[in-house]
Amino acid sequence: KKLKLNKVRLSLIWFIISVVYYLVLLIPLSQFIKIFLGIQEQTSFSYYLDIISGIRFEVFSTSIITTLYLIQHLTTISLQKHKSRLEITVKERTKELIDTNEELNATNNELSVTLKKLKKTQQNLILSEKLSSLGMFATGIAHEINNPLNYIQGGILAIEKHFKGKLEKKDKKIDISINAIKIGVEKASKIVKSLNHFNKNDDSVNNKCDLHLIIDNCLLILDTRLKSKAEIKKTYTNADFILFGNEGKLHQAIINILTNAEQAIEKNGIINIKTEKENHHVKILISDTGCGIGEDAVSKVFDPFFTTKPAGEGAGLGLSITNSIIQEHNGTFTLKTKQGKGTTFTIKLPVKILGK
Ligand SMILES: Nc1ncnc2c1ncn2[C@@H]1O[C@H](COP(=O)(O)OP(=O)(O)OP(=O)(O)O)[C@@H](O)[C@H]1O
Ligand SMILES: [Mg+2]
Repeated sequence: KKLKLNKVRLSLIWFIISVVYYLVLLIPLSQFIKIFLGIQEQTSFSYYLDIISGIRFEVFSTSIITTLYLIQHLTTISLQKHKSRLEITVKERTKELIDTNEELNATNNELSVTLKKLKKTQQNLILSEKLSSLGMFATGIAHEINNPLNYIQGGILAIEKHFKGKLEKKDKKIDISINAIKIGVEKASKIVKSLNHFNKNDDSVNNKCDLHLIIDNCLLILDTRLKSKAEIKKTYTNADFILFGNEGKLHQAIINILTNAEQAIEKNGIINIKTEKENHHVKILISDTGCGIGEDAVSKVFDPFFTTKPAGEGAGLGLSITNSIIQEHNGTFTLKTKQGKGTTFTIKLPVKILGK
């Protein structure tokens, strides 16, 4: 189609050029020759001169136009060849690029999977490192405190026995003191026992766990810290269920949430701990009346190393570790928060219902 169009265009140009030659060059030239030769009237010579000049110029112009046409035709053919070669090259290069791009995408996907795996491994390493050092630390303390506690307990029993029935009314204060020491020692032994729960060198999440005992142990361990700032309210479900999990890890998960709750309360607040059974799950809701979490931070709090606390105060690992632990127990971990009002964290764990 393009070639045909070019031919029409060329013919038109040829026609115009011929007319221009005839009008502009041929007529004035034959006139000039006539004047030059002194030919006044129409003679047969001038007539032939006109025809010869005409033919000469027609041949001249035709040859020029034919040459131009040939040049153009050859150029078009070579251009077309060049174009199709270029198209093939472009197609080849595009295919190469697509292949390379696909390879790059595959490598990229592989890299992001590896990165995710690495992050998970790093988190697990930190978690197991934290748990094992906490376990070792707890065992150490438990062992060191247990011995003197036994002395105190033994001593106080001996003193009690010694004074039994011998105390006069004015010495009643001694009785009160002995009782106070007994209560203190009992509490200390309870704390030591609760610390022993961390010392489970066991990764399994299939051990029978007493959820309420775990929460109580965590409250006992954090007792002084929590009580200095918050009133603790507990509402435990009476429903029967069996929770299978890892005691040490569940302790760690709850301690992380309670520690955050305590840190979120500036002066005085309330920490509510509620458990409820829901079909084949148990829910643990821990809410505080602390500062709440800002909108832009909510989506990041489960990310490892995200913290809003000053350097040295928070590593940003508590919630990410808790999240990993809950996931390991096939549970879910969610939060609701309102800035300035407080935050509620909800752990939902699968349980076995008794008799089923
Ligand atoms: N109960 C809460 N109230 C308000 N903000 C909270 C609460 N719990 C967590 N956050 C926010 O989430 C961030 C991440 O918590 P996370 O426990 O993972 O790390 P951290 O407490 O900063 O450090 P770490 O627990 O390692 O000592 C906190 O820095 C804080 O901004
Ligand atoms: Mg924390």
